[in-house]
Amino acid sequence: MKVYRLNIFKQATKIPSFKVDQFSGFRSSSLAFSGNGSSNSAVKNFAVVGAGQMGIGIALVAARVAGIPSVQIVDSNPTALDNGHRFLNSLLEKDISKGKISREEADLVLSRVHKAKSLEELSKVDFVVEAVTEKS
Ligand SMILES: NC(=O)c1ccc[n+]([C@@H]2O[C@H](COP(=O)([O-])OP(=O)(O)OC[C@H]3O[C@@H](n4cnc5c(N)ncnc54)[C@H](O)[C@@H]3O)[C@@H](O)[C@H]2O)c1
Repeated sequence: MKVYRLNIFKQATKIPSFKVDQFSGFRSSSLAFSGNGSSNSAVKNFAVVGAGQMGIGIALVAARVAGIPSVQIVDSNPTALDNGHRFLNSLLEKDISKGKISREEADLVLSRVHKAKSLEELSKVDFVVEAVTEKS
């Protein structure tokens, strides 16, 4: 299992299906994965720790752009996990309403994303991005 923290996210360039040019937040996180959503990624089991704006954005890009078949999201706060999953849903709904993605494509993306109850559930995951709250 490989675990990368956001502040050393550029190390992900070592994985062939991951390409990071420059990391500067949610917008450029969509640059973090190469792919066309066709499930041919070398990474099959991916996880994000932290269901905030960053974690959800990364999970969405992993499932939608990179086409990773299994994307798990874990958060120590169950409410944040539910809210994060709803946020991911709302991003897809927005793109459906704008005609950027079909309902079928959105459903496929959603079928790839799973909420995990604990870190222990990530034991079979081969790539993890940690996106938890930064401590001051
Ligand atoms: N939001 C941005 O634009 C941005 C840009 C660059 C970097 N970052 C960094 O990315 C990280 C996440 O940012 P965010 O905006 O999504 O933060 P956020 O605070 O909105 O979300 C973080 C989530 O992590 C969860 N969490 C905290 N401790 C945890 C633990 N031990 N195990 C599991 N879950 C835990 C929290 O419950 C929360 O839901 C931060 O370190 C931030 O500095 C954020």
